[in-house]
Amino acid sequence: MAPITKRLEGKVAIITGGSSGIGAATAKLFVQHGAKVIVADVQDDLGHSLCKALGPNDTVFYVHCDVTSDSDVKNVVDTAVSKFGKLDIMYNNAGIAGAADLTTLYSDNENFKRVFEVNVYGAFLGAKHAARVMIPSNKGVILFTASVASVIAGASPHAYTVSKHAVAGLMKNLCVELGQHGIRVNCISPAAISTPLLNNALKMDKKVIEDILRAASVLKGGILEVEDIAEAAVYLSSEESKHVSGVNLVVDGGYSTTNLSFTSAIKNVMNHTTI
Ligand SMILES: NC(=O)c1ccc[n+]([C@@H]2O[C@H](COP(=O)([O-])OP(=O)(O)OC[C@H]3O[C@@H](n4cnc5c(N)ncnc54)[C@H](O)[C@@H]3O)[C@@H](O)[C@H]2O)c1
Repeated sequence: MAPITKRLEGKVAIITGGSSGIGAATAKLFVQHGAKVIVADVQDDLGHSLCKALGPNDTVFYVHCDVTSDSDVKNVVDTAVSKFGKLDIMYNNAGIAGAADLTTLYSDNENFKRVFEVNVYGAFLGAKHAARVMIPSNKGVILFTASVASVIAGASPHAYTVSKHAVAGLMKNLCVELGQHGIRVNCISPAAISTPLLNNALKMDKKVIEDILRAASVLKGGILEVEDIAEAAVYLSSEESKHVSGVNLVVDGGYSTTNLSFTSAIKNVMNHTTI
């Protein structure tokens, strides 16, 4: 579907973790809205073929970038400036789920460190290098993908939950500092979506996961999709949100507003009670 207006015309964006899932959907929508996009990821083949499918090389291209490497992140930001003359939008979206260890005693220490390295340190490096080139122009947008795990607890492993709380905290701290330079900083917190990250973490098929998500949803009539997050990213990157900063935009169909465990426990008891 063609956008009615190109809301990112003339903007230059970097999307980390852009080869797959939410990042890939956002790259597609950003290009449709007129942005020049650099997809930054460690999945090179996927990134190159995505960019080829999205548009000509002078509009969208791939750069290998491990977000945990300062020199890689510096390079992708410098590439945006040398190719397009500026950087308007830095979307720090790359992330990993880490191991599915839900118990403290059996948590793997190296896994905990790795989840923090990618999800938190990687996001910080993205913001740091983006700020380096945005501060002199006194404008810019820095976005992160956090997670619904930044506002609710108990459903994800400790390392993942805490890393996403940290991303939301980082976003707020940066919002205060970088607001002095006209830079807006926000994050998006999706609920679960069937992407390689979730499918691999749960070791289940997309279809099975989507059935679970449909059953667990608060808002009925469809499930959350990567395109919904891309739409939120367009809003937060565009002039329509020019005074929005410091916001953790939870996109979860109301999932985090409630706790249905009491209702389910009652239903369970009633189903097992013969009157
Ligand atoms: N899918 C969900 O249920 C869900 C929910 C909430 C938040 N999120 C967050 O959304 C973001 C995107 O995840 P997704 O669901 O699209 O998963 P995905 O696996 O489809 O995409 C993640 C991308 O990040 C890249 N990546 C991983 N480590 C990297 C590194 N060190 N450097 C550069 N790129 C790296 C991967 O190669 C991949 O292309 C993540 O931050 C994730 O935590 C996902």
